[in-house]
Amino acid sequence: MKKGKISASMMCADLDKIFYYLAEFKKANLDFLHIDVMDGSFVPNLALGTDYVRSLRRSTDVPFDFHFLVNEPLTKMAWFDIRPGDQVAFHFENNQKVNDCIEYVKEKKAKVFIAINPETDFHLLDAYLDKIDGVLVMMVSPGFAGQKMLPFTVNKVGQLHEYLLKNKYTNIEIEVDGNISIEKAKALYQKGARIFVAGSSSLFKNSEASLSETIEQMHKVIGWQE
Ligand code: DX5
Ligand code: ZN
Repeated sequence: MKKGKISASMMCADLDKIFYYLAEFKKANLDFLHIDVMDGSFVPNLALGTDYVRSLRRSTDVPFDFHFLVNEPLTKMAWFDIRPGDQVAFHFENNQKVNDCIEYVKEKKAKVFIAINPETDFHLLDAYLDKIDGVLVMMVSPGFAGQKMLPFTVNKVGQLHEYLLKNKYTNIEIEVDGNISIEKAKALYQKGARIFVAGSSSLFKNSEASLSETIEQMHKVIGWQE
């Protein structure tokens, strides 16, 4: 089975340890830094602004995995420096310009993901499946780190995976975001998820294990052992 990827949720990273984190991620060949952009309108919270993200970009060459939890994503994506090798998810909900958003991200030579909230039916994405690289499934209500996973989302991931296989969309990757602990990553890998947003439930959790040990444990449960 294809190996899973880790995307470190930078809204959960304490600033006083940021260079340590970036060095460890580089050493471990981490796949992505997850960049949540929240506008206080699509979700009731603000996160990672343009200047912070620009500064982060100067400090690392690990690719970015943007997640735009905003209204008017087509306008707001343009405020950021999206580069080839990045991956970009924008939400399906309240978005009248899904096709334009897809085109915009493709022009930037980044991978295109559509993000859906826990309650959003994935069948609504049918018209876009030929054009996208992945689907980001929210496992908690969007907006805040540190929440508990909504149990029904686990089966939703399994159903989406089956649906994609059945319809021959074998290249579309499933990314899961929200309360991804090591244990849950294991279960979701088995359900077909391949990109795991690691935030306060794993990489940035105060635990006995060091950061590199946690990355190693997570890699093990997402197919790096085989
Ligand atoms: C929202 C974020 C959060 C968070 C993940 O899009 O990506 O879900 O940082 O970390 P947890 O849920 O483990 O705190
Ligand atoms: Zn996110």
